[in-house]
Amino acid sequence: MENQIHRIGVLTSGGDAPGMNAAVRAVVRSASDCGIGCVGIRRGWNGLITSDFVPLDASSVSHIIDKGGTMLYTARSEEFMTEEGRTKALATCKLLGLDGIVAIGGDGTFRGALALSRQAAAAGTALSVVGIPATIDNDIGCSHYTIGFDTACNTAVACIDKLRDTMQSHERCSVVEVMGRHAGHLALYVGLAVGATAVLIPEREVNFESDIVEKIRQARLAGTTHYMVVVAEGAGSAADIGRRIHEELGLDPRVTVLGHIQRGGSPSARDRETASRMGYEAVMALASQRGNRIIATQDGRIVDLDMEEALQMKKPFPMERYKILEALTLSGSRRS
Ligand code: F6P
Repeated sequence: MENQIHRIGVLTSGGDAPGMNAAVRAVVRSASDCGIGCVGIRRGWNGLITSDFVPLDASSVSHIIDKGGTMLYTARSEEFMTEEGRTKALATCKLLGLDGIVAIGGDGTFRGALALSRQAAAAGTALSVVGIPATIDNDIGCSHYTIGFDTACNTAVACIDKLRDTMQSHERCSVVEVMGRHAGHLALYVGLAVGATAVLIPEREVNFESDIVEKIRQARLAGTTHYMVVVAEGAGSAADIGRRIHEELGLDPRVTVLGHIQRGGSPSARDRETASRMGYEAVMALASQRGNRIIATQDGRIVDLDMEEALQMKKPFPMERYKILEALTLSGSRRS
């Protein structure tokens, strides 16, 4: 049976995430397995505008499953947000004979994909788009999990474990800022995993007295002489928090901003496995003529959702983890 889709473009866009390469590999190999041609678009949506591409076959994605970053490079494209930019992108699709695009990235990437597909339809061109969620922030409403989150959590935990050694020796307070943009998923998950004294997240209003001062005080009363405070970048600056801890408790905190180190490194087994399954399902959606989809995880299952509906979805923040964190620390809110 002849495939309706003949050639797809695959790209990575937005902030990189460990496991993006594994997703590219899965898309290229699955396409090859279905007899669909594949072209890598480099530097995100910019590459579609400037016709920056690389032909890919099954063997060109060998030995990347374990690599961090993205072999296709990534970028955030202002021009693609404009109709003119997307017109240029559609011209590239036409020239290369692309009838499908798999876009690996976050919400912004998917909004771009939807705008492109709508513009193509308005121009009478058939172009199916499929999104694969990949961001260390885990902040995509339609998917319980996003590629890269597990690796970033593991990296942050490994760093904080090392910090704890020296904080313990010197009996100090550590204030660590983790990424997550406007979301606190990474901070809360990591905070729970390192047994933090306190965690600040944007999803919960911060009361400095009860959330920090009192927690450190209670931990000290319980015998602890070192403290670990984890701050989501969206909840405030670790430097400011450190200053206030100094002013209000007389401690001399050390501040660490983990920054982009959280975005690198070899992807974890979970990220490779999820990326492989999502990449495969993205191609299956295109091959069975289901366009404008986002591949998502829901309760561990991979599903494909209508892109427009998926972009409206919101996932509940797992606030129960905050309660668990409080219950498990020596500074637990019920202890006084
Ligand atoms: O979205 C991923 C992310 O790493 C966020 O956690 C962070 O706020 C942002 O990207 C950093 O972006 P940039 O790479 O442009 O500094």
